[in-house]
Amino acid sequence: MSLVPSVQVDSNALPRRANSNLKHLPGPKGHWYFGNLRALLPDPVFRETLRLYSPVQLLPRRNVRGFEFRGKHIPGNSQILLSPQLCHRDRILFEQPHAFRPERFLATGPDNRADPFSFVPFGKGSHMCIGMRFATLAVKAFFALLLRTYYLQLSVDRLPVIQYLPMLRPRHRLPLCFVPHKG
Ligand code: HEM
Repeated sequence: MSLVPSVQVDSNALPRRANSNLKHLPGPKGHWYFGNLRALLPDPVFRETLRLYSPVQLLPRRNVRGFEFRGKHIPGNSQILLSPQLCHRDRILFEQPHAFRPERFLATGPDNRADPFSFVPFGKGSHMCIGMRFATLAVKAFFALLLRTYYLQLSVDRLPVIQYLPMLRPRHRLPLCFVPHKG
């Protein structure tokens, strides 16, 4: 959000913004319910962030049967490491794969029809993350409170160096400023 400040700002320039409904939310002592969280940090913003910066880098699997992949035979019972990050940055699957474009996940967006296995920040199949819904709500609740009070701004003019393993995080400290909203 600090890299793409426009998603924090309530203007008519983008189709859906992270905080576009903040003013309709209850105050810190008000009642929170799923309905008003759903309006926040629209899924396209959350999904696009997870696409570019998937926290989990490798999904380990073991294949039961052998198969051919791009002309190579992979014998059965091999250990296979799948990389969400590589998948998410593949230009065959996503247009302009390195650009932050939440619109791609709108119902009418170009990538919404994509192969269900192309977007896998929570994995896929029988071992898919069981905390996905909870994590999504927790992130929404967190940003709902944070963005009411602060505007997030990078304190440097370039992307911090990223460390990918064992989990994605900034290699050094996160150069982020919390600028209080005026008034
Ligand atoms: C943004 C936050 C999170 C991300 C990106 C994430 C991502 C993942 C990924 C990629 C996997 C492996 C899926 C696979 O191998 O196909 C996984 C598994 C798992 N996650 Fe999460 N996770 C998140 C939050 C959570 C939370 C909040 C919980 C618990 C409350 C949780 C519990 C689990 C468990 C128990 C598994 C193992 C499932 C299994 O092997 O059957 N995760 N998660």
